[in-house]
Amino acid sequence: MKKIQFFDTTLRDGEQTPGVNFDVKEKIQIALQLEKLGIDVIEAGFPISSPGDFECVKAIAKAIKHCSVTGLARCVEGDIDRAEEALKDAVSPQIHIFLATSDVHMEYKLKMSRAEVLASIKHHISYARQKFEVVQFSPEDATRSDRAFLIEAVQTAIDAGATVINIPDTVGYTNPTEFGQLFQDLRREIKQFDEITFASHCHDDLGMATANALAAIENGARRVEGTINGIGERAGNTALEEVAVALHIRKDFYQAETNIVLNQFKNSSDLISRLSGMPVPRNKAVIGGNAYAHESGIHQDGVLKNPDTYEIITPALVGVDKNSLPLGKLSGKHAFNTRMEEMGYTLTEQEQKDAFKRFKQLADAKKEVTEEDLHALILGQSSESADDFELKHLQVQYVTGGVQGAIVRIEERDGALVEDAATGSGSIEAIYNTINRLMKQDIELTDYRIQAITAGQDAQAEVHVVIKNDKGAEFHGIGIDFDVLTASAKAYLQASGKSKTASKQADFEEVK
Ligand code: KIV
Ligand code: ZN
Repeated sequence: MKKIQFFDTTLRDGEQTPGVNFDVKEKIQIALQLEKLGIDVIEAGFPISSPGDFECVKAIAKAIKHCSVTGLARCVEGDIDRAEEALKDAVSPQIHIFLATSDVHMEYKLKMSRAEVLASIKHHISYARQKFEVVQFSPEDATRSDRAFLIEAVQTAIDAGATVINIPDTVGYTNPTEFGQLFQDLRREIKQFDEITFASHCHDDLGMATANALAAIENGARRVEGTINGIGERAGNTALEEVAVALHIRKDFYQAETNIVLNQFKNSSDLISRLSGMPVPRNKAVIGGNAYAHESGIHQDGVLKNPDTYEIITPALVGVDKNSLPLGKLSGKHAFNTRMEEMGYTLTEQEQKDAFKRFKQLADAKKEVTEEDLHALILGQSSESADDFELKHLQVQYVTGGVQGAIVRIEERDGALVEDAATGSGSIEAIYNTINRLMKQDIELTDYRIQAITAGQDAQAEVHVVIKNDKGAEFHGIGIDFDVLTASAKAYLQASGKSKTASKQADFEEVK
């Protein structure tokens, strides 16, 4: 059996998904869940890219104890220094350096000749090697690079001290046959192939990211990069849950082992879906809501007689617990805390108390509190407690076919209360216009999505919004409530609050 390492880039490439923006608290929550999932390397961010990203990488490096943490860097000394600084508290730090090797990138983006690219790789990898034991090099756009030059670039990086070579299919261009061949070529041409860890990093533009990653593994890759739920730049990255479960179910074929705790996938997927505001499609492989639903009568009959007839993955394998008993208003603290633990939450005593109080309020309003409600409850609790602004009062006046009005009162973290009113052509517009007046910000709403957390008329609503401020920065907000207007107001207020805090931070940086 060969061992395959899992490298998660949800917090870096995953955050490059348009509209996805995690704050530091959310990033730490995700990183801790990835640690529970058994990920080998967490790519926590791109430290030089912004002061916020630097702080996130630093905080994650400190919080994570059982896996490696890495940060991205260009072939620039300043990037490498900044990554070193951000990662200095990590138990097992690594650095990930990239430079494009395809003609189109070198000519138009980098404006560098092949010789200059090779010299830069040599210099910056050896510079990084003086600071890090593990140095990963990625020849960006590898799959569209001239093969002989790619091999020369990889050999240069290894000779300069790279210990991991990652082959990115940056634009999602390759297919499994071709990608497998690329790894065979590397295996044949690179003399140290077996001493170096080779990795794959695939994008899903042509829907082949998982298949390509598996082809890489078949042909010598020992590390796979990807994200949870496959989120990422454009069409996204390889979905790690798909690769891990494929390796497990088809162990007979791949002959591979991993450190992944498969039954942590459901919790990981739910968390990332909620915090990114990207719902998992029902028909998504491995983790989608329909993955274990059998519709046809013939299939249902077969599964009842023997699940093996139509079910290759059991729900329990990935942590989908269909039989867990719903909690209700008579459930006590013990049952509640036990369920929280089963669902993967590690709460402090105070958090347990607050969560139980909210659970009781929820159980009074709802017949049955499901696992989905509990995830929402924790998410609502942790995101609201991090907010600088709290919605205290919302009043909406609705007139059929007329102009709608809203009054909103907000409490700031320091206790100050502010209230205002505005109108709009719809109730949501009236609320959002009022919040804009209160927050004194010029905001554009770029995405608004609403979903019911569970079925039934007593379901809670979960609203996701993405806004863009006047500097072009995007922020995501979530609001959960029984009432859709309140959930909409909470989501918008959260996103506006993040934008306001970021603007203050930017002004502070400028003054410094
Ligand atoms: O897709 C890509 O090429 C990347 C690199 C930074 C590895 O994300
Ligand atoms: Zn990428």
